[in-house]
Amino acid sequence: MAKVTILGATGNVGLFAAHTISEIPYVSDMLLVGRPGREDFLAGCCRDLSDSFAARGTDVRLSYSTSLADARDSDIIVCTAGVPRKPGQDRNDLAFENAKIVAETARTIGQVSPDAILFVITNPVDVMTAVALKYSGLEPRQVFGLGTHLDSMRLKSLIAHYFRVHVSEVHTRIIGEHGKSMVPLWSATTIGGIRIQNLPTFSGLPTQEMIETVRTSGEAIIRDKGATVYGPGEAIATLVRTILGNENRILTVSSYIKSEIHGIGDVCIGVPARINREGVFPVAIRLEDDEIAGFSRSVAKIQKITAKVME
Ligand code: LAC
Repeated sequence: MAKVTILGATGNVGLFAAHTISEIPYVSDMLLVGRPGREDFLAGCCRDLSDSFAARGTDVRLSYSTSLADARDSDIIVCTAGVPRKPGQDRNDLAFENAKIVAETARTIGQVSPDAILFVITNPVDVMTAVALKYSGLEPRQVFGLGTHLDSMRLKSLIAHYFRVHVSEVHTRIIGEHGKSMVPLWSATTIGGIRIQNLPTFSGLPTQEMIETVRTSGEAIIRDKGATVYGPGEAIATLVRTILGNENRILTVSSYIKSEIHGIGDVCIGVPARINREGVFPVAIRLEDDEIAGFSRSVAKIQKITAKVME
């Protein structure tokens, strides 16, 4: 059985993630961590969530704290701490402010829970994953970010609707930045096990429009309702279940790559990775020329921002 700690638990995403993660059978203990001064709010969240567990019949021990030291002995620590994106902002606008929060948090986590897997949600997630890796002192397999997993799921859903097939028939990946320079891998997209590029109907697929929809999806949701909550919340639960269930699924997350993809590396960015109880292991892949070019540009962009915030 496992202990899952959620940092930034007073935020929308942290709270909804607590709810989705509580449905995972391997979870026995859950700790919500928020900032000092938020004790009453955290206590209220615990009571409300406990009621939902009672109504569902879930047996998870739930507690809260304003001290990171209580995260000790966690199996997974989900970091949603940081300032959220406001309408009109790019994720990268948050880099400096959130890097301070994530660096400080990661340093403490590395000390109090050195065996944990640290799962970063805070945006800009690729840069924050690199900050968390550096300041926690944990191994690369132990630190990863939500990356382009949700973007990949958004594209998968659009493709499934277009071809009128069940989403489980579609496999696709978006790699690179969780942001404007993300790269769709049509070469790695299949429907019913058949490469999408081999389907006669592929030429009619509005690929540009689809990728633009995915690229601007978070921004559009923030404009209309203030925050993205249910998408990231479910995506987080998928990743936590994959780890705790030792499922060895290959999902597209932000992970440290040395040179796995065409020699490109030394960056934390969205790549396919095999994920199990030990953590996250990027998979070496071969890409097509235009995909390599797009991925190189995305890597260069993230490396630049990462270097700046780490100065
Ligand atoms: C989104 C957040 C997770 O894209 O950045 O919804």
